[in-house]
Amino acid sequence: MLDGFYHALEAIGYTHPIHPTQVNMPIGLVVGALVLALAAVLSKKAHLAVSARHVVIVAFFFLIVTAGAGLMDWLHFYSGVWLFPIKVKVVLAVFLFFLLGAAVLAGGRLEPTSPVLISLYVLSFLTVVALGYFGANLVFGGRTPPLPQQYHAGETVYRMNCCGCHPYGGNAIKPRKAVLGSDKLDNFPKFVGWLRDPRAPMPPFPPERISDAQARQLYQYVKNLHD
Ligand code: HEC
Repeated sequence: MLDGFYHALEAIGYTHPIHPTQVNMPIGLVVGALVLALAAVLSKKAHLAVSARHVVIVAFFFLIVTAGAGLMDWLHFYSGVWLFPIKVKVVLAVFLFFLLGAAVLAGGRLEPTSPVLISLYVLSFLTVVALGYFGANLVFGGRTPPLPQQYHAGETVYRMNCCGCHPYGGNAIKPRKAVLGSDKLDNFPKFVGWLRDPRAPMPPFPPERISDAQARQLYQYVKNLHD
């Protein structure tokens, strides 16, 4: 079902993860809540802190949507493999969930400018910054190497299926098992054989996922990767 969802997106020309299109919502709202709360304290206008509380409630709901999108991307683009930045992101997202949840609950009972609430906003802000840092780490660590135009089809297949675990043709899970220089690239049959039936934890890629024609484009692409 998840594959179907991403294939529908691919059919309309969208081959990227969906999580990055969502992250701006909780990030912006958490920053907004902090700014409003600080403005309330500095200007002694409590109604600004009431706005901060409402913004936090919205942030809490968007966090759930954004984390769900992240989970889907992780299952699809990373085959649910626990790369280090992903582990950190999950821990931070759970932490943020509790921080925002606490701010939502406490906001109903405490003064809008209570130091407890302000501390929760500050902690949420710091958590969001850390989440952004590790997100960027995944994205920019996972880029595909640049290559001439004729390899673009293969590059797309690589970006959709491989680069989460094989950033820059390397291997994020088993660093000594890089794609670059692998003997699995000796010839096309050997390469397809590996794709269809690799050694775990690399997931197999059946023809429904990568057709023989796509595998050939992918082969051309990875054959021409350079370090
Ligand atoms: C979920 C992570 C993951 C994904 C996605 C993935 N791989 Fe791998 N890949 C691995 C791991 C782990 C190994 C090492 C397996 C082992 O122990 O030999 C590996 C090994 C390889 C090797 C052999 C390296 C060697 O010489 O030992 C090649 C070639 C390769 N992958 C290509 C690909 C291609 C092409 C794709 C995309 C279609 C892909 N991989 C997708 C994790 C992944």
